[in-house]
Amino acid sequence: MNKIFKINLKNVTKRFDGLDTPVLKNLSLNINASEKIAILGSSGSGKSTLLHIIAGLDSPTEGKVLLNEADIGSLSENNKSRLRNQHIGFVYQSHHLLRDFSAIENVMMPLIVRRGGYLKNFNQAKKILKKLGLDKRLNHFPHQLSGGERQRVAIARAMVTLPDIILADEPTGNLDHKNANLVFESFLELADEFKTAIVLATHDLSLARRMKKNYHLTSGKLKSS
Ligand SMILES: Nc1ncnc2c1ncn2[C@@H]1O[C@H](COP(=O)(O)OP(=O)(O)O)[C@@H](O)[C@H]1O
Ligand SMILES: [Mg+2]
Repeated sequence: MNKIFKINLKNVTKRFDGLDTPVLKNLSLNINASEKIAILGSSGSGKSTLLHIIAGLDSPTEGKVLLNEADIGSLSENNKSRLRNQHIGFVYQSHHLLRDFSAIENVMMPLIVRRGGYLKNFNQAKKILKKLGLDKRLNHFPHQLSGGERQRVAIARAMVTLPDIILADEPTGNLDHKNANLVFESFLELADEFKTAIVLATHDLSLARRMKKNYHLTSGKLKSS
């Protein structure tokens, strides 16, 4: 079944107070269901800003962001966050796991927020953790896990609600090359299985090459590469 999902950025410009030049300049981008896109760019080029704008966490100074054709800039904060919870997952460079909760409890958290029965949530979280090779680590706390395992838990937490898109901001940036590749491989397999779109911000060309589309963010513009 093909998902009905798309995000369109239309002529987005983003200025921050105190910066002479806009971080994003009249930038347009179309993201379709299950599409895999990498945004390459050096540090400070605006990759994180772009992801925040795609998610509606920050608003463009000019231009529009459409989610399934609806202008998210015209929604109330409540409606925006409801839409975000429904469609979008995040993975960051650091895992942001809750240290006093086990791996499975961390992954269950987004489901608990949406209510649903404990057993159902537990089983869903377990299923995803298993797919990421963590079936022996369900009850471990973040400090008992390796860096790669912690990032896998963070990926499981982002995936457990089956979002349409994951915005991944340097998701393996804290891992060594070998682990980064292994974790990224599992992430892509899961995204393929669930037909999840990914927008990956990275400066790792070898990871970007695994995505269908590559863009370079330079001087506030996206260039296909
Ligand atoms: N909230 C903010 N206020 C002011 N300047 C910001 C803010 N967020 C980011 N910037 C600036 O915007 C530019 C792009 O930042 P960022 O999107 O974090 O880049 P990247 O993720 O590619 O490293 C940088 O010059 C940064 O200092
Ligand atoms: Mg960044």
